[in-house]
Amino acid sequence: MNTNLPEKLRLCSLADIPEAGSKGFNLTGRKLFAVKQQGKVYLYHNSCPHIGIPLEWVEDQFLDSSGSMIQCANHGALFVIKTGKCVAGPCSGRSLIPIDFSIDAGDIFISPS
Ligand code: FES
Repeated sequence: MNTNLPEKLRLCSLADIPEAGSKGFNLTGRKLFAVKQQGKVYLYHNSCPHIGIPLEWVEDQFLDSSGSMIQCANHGALFVIKTGKCVAGPCSGRSLIPIDFSIDAGDIFISPS
């Protein structure tokens, strides 16, 4: 067992994600994105269930123009922020993959793998 591995990786500060906004991350080769809505954070793999490519064309832009849905820039799929479920578009009925995280002293942490 390698005891040098960290138990968890710091992703960012809660304050780094704008309220009613989104932010992308590339952490040790893993593409992720976070959305903050009403003070709550949602974290997903940045991979569209349609064809498995990143959702955004513009850095940190993962929401539709109303800010109420996650939108894939490639073919317009719309996802519910709270659940990651696609409700419109070519992958309707499928879901983004959520990422478990913890919050400690205002910072967001994820597992290293
Ligand atoms: S790649 Fe996301 S809708 Fe096609």
